[in-house]
Amino acid sequence: MTGEPSYILPAELEAAGVLAPEWRKAVEAAPRHLFIPPTIWVSRPGHRGWYPLARQDDSAAWWGLVNRDGYIVTQVDDDRPAEPGVVGEYSTSSASQPSLVLRMLAELDLEPGMRVLEVGTGTGWNAALMCARLGDNAVTTVEVDGELAAAARIALGRAGFSPTVVTGDGAAGYAPGAPYDRIIATASVQAIPAAWPAQARPGGIILTPYGDAYHNDALLKLTVNDDGTASGRFVGRAAFMWLRRDRVLLGPLREYVHADDHPDRKTTELDPREVFGDPDIDFAVATRVSDVSWHRVDAADESGEFTVWLLGLSGERSWASIDFEGHSPYAVEQYGPRRLWDEIEAAYGWWIEAGRPTTDRFGLTVGPDGQHVWLNSPHNPV
Ligand SMILES: C[S@@+](CC[C@H](N)C(=O)[O-])C[C@H]1O[C@@H](n2cnc3c(N)ncnc32)[C@H](O)[C@@H]1O
Repeated sequence: MTGEPSYILPAELEAAGVLAPEWRKAVEAAPRHLFIPPTIWVSRPGHRGWYPLARQDDSAAWWGLVNRDGYIVTQVDDDRPAEPGVVGEYSTSSASQPSLVLRMLAELDLEPGMRVLEVGTGTGWNAALMCARLGDNAVTTVEVDGELAAAARIALGRAGFSPTVVTGDGAAGYAPGAPYDRIIATASVQAIPAAWPAQARPGGIILTPYGDAYHNDALLKLTVNDDGTASGRFVGRAAFMWLRRDRVLLGPLREYVHADDHPDRKTTELDPREVFGDPDIDFAVATRVSDVSWHRVDAADESGEFTVWLLGLSGERSWASIDFEGHSPYAVEQYGPRRLWDEIEAAYGWWIEAGRPTTDRFGLTVGPDGQHVWLNSPHNPV
């Protein structure tokens, strides 16, 4: 028998053990395919960028992604048109990975009667799940992109939901609906917007992906205090695109490293395989350095050799590289006013000295004097 494939995501998520019983009805009531646009964007192995996939051209592939526990890119380059041959450079909206959505909703500890603000409506699927649990009147969701907000309103309506969908900058929250019991961001921040604690009631929770150009893969759960400050721990990993305000869009390496640069050279005994790529280490190092990103470039052959490039993002051009050629010492080059490898080496040394803490031992407090990351307790800023 042929025909349209069907919505089997709830069963898939249940089989994978990621669908809590209290969310089962919501995932059934908000069929994900109603929220996924007819053209989505997919990557191709070995190629940079995003390629359009139209449902009408390859319905099986489109449905395969809808029913799979993965994220789906739904917009690139702030809505570059999907013409034949167009390759998207940056993903700018997506339907998040369902198991991640469910994990974040579990962290929110939602109870009937609560009012929630979501920042980053995207497709509207997450808002639909919350409506299914709490009712339409309890949910406000803000999307910065007007066309995405309009599409989400339509999808939500088709699925039978009508939360308040606001077109605007979610960094400003949405004051008319405040105070909220819960604020959930589905875009990552480098700094907690002041409006979020201000618009949450005392005891309320703010849950947001958090990270910078060095490491953008942490989930932060803050509780709002009576005095309007908010404090809490990192509770896991969550890789999201940034809130537009906090975006870092990196160009190709040649924009940062020029052929006629004359770097300083030295060697180190510190194995780059230890320093880069472990989420706990990357997180900890990122708390100690600012305005730097790292990129590993593997050798094209089977040698296992690679170079890690460090790119300074604080104005004047600085870069560093460290080569892994199978054995120490490792060659280091550093160019520009900053000594980026030295900064990373010092931050890594701090992490070792601190007893190799995992991400869940860190937290953050935000108040009138800004935000501070801490280790073990708010009294111990890093
Ligand atoms: C990962 S997607 C959200 C996924 C969505 N919650 C869903 O269920 O499909 C992130 C969204 O955040 C939006 N966004 C980025 N900056 C924003 C801002 N300042 N205010 C509101 N939305 C923003 C993006 O346009 C994008 O649609």
